[in-house]
Amino acid sequence: MKHFSSFSIFLIATSINVAFSLLSDAAYHGPFPKVPKDMGTIQLGAFIFDNAELLDITGPMEIFGAPFNNLDIKINFIGTSLKPVKTAQSVLLTPKYTLSNAPKMDLFFIPGGPGIIPVMNSTKIMRQVTKRVKESTWTMTVCVGSAVLAKTDLMDGYNMTTNKMDFEWVVKNSEDAKVNWIKRARWVQDGKYVTSSGVSAGMDAALYILSEFTSLANAQNVSNFIEYSWHKDANDDPFADLYPYTRS
Ligand SMILES: *[C@@H]1O[C@H](CO)[C@@H](O)[C@H](O)[C@H]1NC(C)=O
Ligand SMILES: *[C@@H]1O[C@H](CO)[C@@H](O)[C@H](O)[C@H]1NC(C)=O
Ligand SMILES: *[C@@H]1O[C@H](CO)[C@@H](O)[C@H](O)[C@H]1NC(C)=O
Repeated sequence: MKHFSSFSIFLIATSINVAFSLLSDAAYHGPFPKVPKDMGTIQLGAFIFDNAELLDITGPMEIFGAPFNNLDIKINFIGTSLKPVKTAQSVLLTPKYTLSNAPKMDLFFIPGGPGIIPVMNSTKIMRQVTKRVKESTWTMTVCVGSAVLAKTDLMDGYNMTTNKMDFEWVVKNSEDAKVNWIKRARWVQDGKYVTSSGVSAGMDAALYILSEFTSLANAQNVSNFIEYSWHKDANDDPFADLYPYTRS
């Protein structure tokens, strides 16, 4: 009898565990996840690579790193090696970690720029990026950085957006991913993912994330501090009209 009941408890515990892991593995499309109470300092891992777009990186980092943003956060640049990367604007940025030796990052960040092409072409880098995205609590992309994210095997059924000038290229190069590409959006949030439109749109998306992590008033305060007119409406995207979508 005693034997039997501990076995039933084992069975119940096992099925609860299975149910939980099914839940956590299932695609999550709900609101942007809150900062967990026990998180401590948020580790932001910004993936940088040769020919990344400078403002894609530095715009959001200005916001996440702002001294009065009421956020306990640390910015870490992560390269494919520790060699300084040369951005598309020829400004050098120095990684602190590599994709293989960095500790787990809470907020993983992928910029765009012409440098995404060799990144997407490398199976090894894509495997490492996929792992980083998977273990992150949140992932953010700017511009065509969303093409890199779409290239992981994680975005099936997700809403995403990207740079409007390169929209068709991104859609064409991620046909296997079954992404619901949103044609008019300054940024798109779906579950733990925020993908932004081109270059400066990354700042609007970063302010959105800051507002979710803290408050709207706090994000507004930071945009005032940097004298930036924050486009608060995620659907306000005048650039979508400049590049009409021609694919059916
Ligand atoms: C995804 O986008 C569609 C519009 O194409 C919208 O109806 C839906 O609510 C979005 N889903 C999420 C999870 O945001
Ligand atoms: C893609 O990778 C192949 C080898 O794996 C290489 O020959 C080719 O030059 C690469 N293309 C780009 C655009 O990086
Ligand atoms: C708003 O930002 C200013 C800097 O521009 C800072 O001095 C102030 O403490 C901030 N207010 C709050 C409530 O965080």
